[in-house]
Amino acid sequence: MHILEVQGIQKRFGATEVLSDISFTMERGEALSIIGSSGSGKTTLLRCLNFLETPDAGRILVNGETLFDAADARKKRDREIRKKRLHFGLVFQSFNLFPQYTALENVKLAGQLLARERPDYQNHKSEVLSEIDAKAHALLKEMGLSNREQSYPFQLSGGQCQRVAIARALALEPDILCFDEPTSALDPELTGEVLRVIRELADRNTTMIIVTHEMAFARDVADRVIFMDEGRICEQGDPKEVFEHPREERTKQFLARYRQEA
Ligand SMILES: Nc1ncnc2c1ncn2[C@@H]1O[C@H](COP(=O)(O)OP(=O)(O)OP(=O)(O)O)[C@@H](O)[C@H]1O
Ligand SMILES: [Mg+2]
Repeated sequence: MHILEVQGIQKRFGATEVLSDISFTMERGEALSIIGSSGSGKTTLLRCLNFLETPDAGRILVNGETLFDAADARKKRDREIRKKRLHFGLVFQSFNLFPQYTALENVKLAGQLLARERPDYQNHKSEVLSEIDAKAHALLKEMGLSNREQSYPFQLSGGQCQRVAIARALALEPDILCFDEPTSALDPELTGEVLRVIRELADRNTTMIIVTHEMAFARDVADRVIFMDEGRICEQGDPKEVFEHPREERTKQFLARYRQEA
């Protein structure tokens, strides 16, 4: 069974169609990178997958379960939306950490959100909370931040903030971890630091969607790449294959433009 199945997603803002008939599937353990020029709809697609935007048409299935169907969405108010969002962990370009909380508290908050959805939460609150605590320490350790647990976001570098944001997303135990240009706000050194962490996650078969302008990273780390252009998927496949031998004219143009700039 596919971990993710996206069928015919369409999204308009006013008269402008920003996503047209986007369909793709993902397997468990796969790292998928999404590439495309600015304004091609990458962020909008991630926002649709995270139920932050409502598509005008299409369906989204996770593990075979329909989480979104545009045909139903028009009829009813979705009370389960928070639960559905927990299937996806989202890491933004700008980290979006809570400034009033330490690194550790930011990660623990996510764990608490998840725990509240558990049926045994009220009866086993103290055990669950100590599990969350242990998990938050472990995740920050994994991100190389054990010695910064008590730091506030303003005391951390951009790369460190982004690693806290990744730990927080992982604390939600998402089926699919989504990154939207996780390094575009960072200088080259900090970019390397964050890309290393994402590469390690890929090596451990974390199911991920990575929207990125880091072409070398997409080529070397992702299992599959999707090229988007003007709201459509213009080409997808094995990254090494697509980067070496793009079939579509628009992919060729995009890669040529990128190579010129690099
Ligand atoms: N809330 C909104 N209201 C109206 N138009 C929007 C909204 N969000 C995005 N758009 C438009 O949708 C199109 C796609 O935007 P999107 O942010 O998805 O592109 P992107 O591929 O992520 O670009 P970038 O690489 O610059 O991040 C753009 O033309 C944008 O102006
Ligand atoms: Mg974007």
